[in-house]
Amino acid sequence: MRYDLQPVGSRRSLLRFLLGSPLLLAARPMASTQELLEVVAQCEPDLSPVGELITSPKEAINVFDFQAVAKQALSPGHYAYLATGVDHERGLHANRAGFGRFALRPRRLVDVTGLDTTTKVLGTKLSCPIALAPAGMQTAFHPDGEVAVARAAKTTDQLQILSTGSGKSLDEVINARGESVWYMVATPRLWPVTRLQLLHAEEAGCPVAVLTIDYVGFGSQDRLRRLRGPGDPFRIRENKECRSCHGASEISQIGRILTAFGHDPLEVASDLFTLDWDYVDRIRDTTSMKLVLKGILTHEDASLAVEHGVDGLIISNHGARQMDNSISTIEILPEIVSAVDGRIPVMIDSGFRRGTDVFTALALGASAVCIGRPYLWGLAAFGQAGVEGALTIIRREFETVMRHMGTRDVASITADFVQST
Ligand SMILES: Cc1cc2nc3c(=O)[nH]c(=O)nc-3n(C[C@H](O)[C@H](O)[C@H](O)COP(=O)(O)O)c2cc1C
Repeated sequence: MRYDLQPVGSRRSLLRFLLGSPLLLAARPMASTQELLEVVAQCEPDLSPVGELITSPKEAINVFDFQAVAKQALSPGHYAYLATGVDHERGLHANRAGFGRFALRPRRLVDVTGLDTTTKVLGTKLSCPIALAPAGMQTAFHPDGEVAVARAAKTTDQLQILSTGSGKSLDEVINARGESVWYMVATPRLWPVTRLQLLHAEEAGCPVAVLTIDYVGFGSQDRLRRLRGPGDPFRIRENKECRSCHGASEISQIGRILTAFGHDPLEVASDLFTLDWDYVDRIRDTTSMKLVLKGILTHEDASLAVEHGVDGLIISNHGARQMDNSISTIEILPEIVSAVDGRIPVMIDSGFRRGTDVFTALALGASAVCIGRPYLWGLAAFGQAGVEGALTIIRREFETVMRHMGTRDVASITADFVQST
């Protein structure tokens, strides 16, 4: 199969794609503050504390303390971008509710002195099995965006996966991280564009390319769309602050690359974002990086991924931001682990907020967990210090659970420690 540059298609589709992830907002008058706050209030159900907001990361009791501050700190549009699900947002609820299907079985009187949370995934050493999921346009949450996150990943020694839609360049992020990151590729089915992204990451020394495979349609992010005026998806009924963050130059890297190849990024058809297994093969055969697929949700696709020589998986429903009504990722994990049967590492994300969540996934066979919104709440609330704060809390919670469970290291976390309820 050949993958040439394709003729242009629907302008609206790409507009929606670009809006769906690396947020591109522009100014328009005007909804009342009350109206905007009501939209924000409907965003992700949370455990935000009732009462005073924390004023420093050290005061945080759990990651939801950062969410509460983020909600106040961000403009309604940016908060909606961070929080939004799709359609009825059943997926957001399901991702959290899924953890209720499993209970932990602690073992007592086990010596856990010298607790060891380190592990290794695809050759990358992790200080604990919690990684930072890729998220586009983090400069919407803090001016330092992905660079602040990279600094926090450095001080906490955690794996960062950088989105193609990053608000900062790969080089800036690697400099701030002090070592390489995994690079998430979201590519249209335009081989020169894909190749350029892969080369860019290879040359920067990224050991792993994470191919996001669920950018295939444009789920209706109602919360976010409600902030837009009718007719023009680029316009948001908010304030001039949007234009100051999203100048014309700040289009996603996909947009920049498409432009470099002579495509009008606003004119590329959404069909082009539909990849297939042949395209995965082509990427696998071309790149020297290890290839991880992000967005697998069934054992059938997990088995196909192994057959196609993929190096690893991230089970993900994109934090319930792409399609509604999918089962929670934690509930799918066992069937996928069983299908993969240890042949490649299986990572997971979507809805992880607590150390117990991380432990449950590991007990069910995951190699590591990625978190999205919690570290972005930290970023929005306090920049680098907030990211460090959120990561430290989840990690501390995970260590506490390990102690309770009688597991001294990551390898000893097995299926014996979890049961279905
Ligand atoms: C604001 C935001 C932007 C995101 N951008 C991307 C992206 O560019 N590429 C991608 O593969 N996933 C993206 N995701 C999804 C995350 O990688 C991850 O799958 C999800 O956030 C995990 O769910 P959680 O937020 O409930 O932890 C984004 C998520 C958020 C919240």
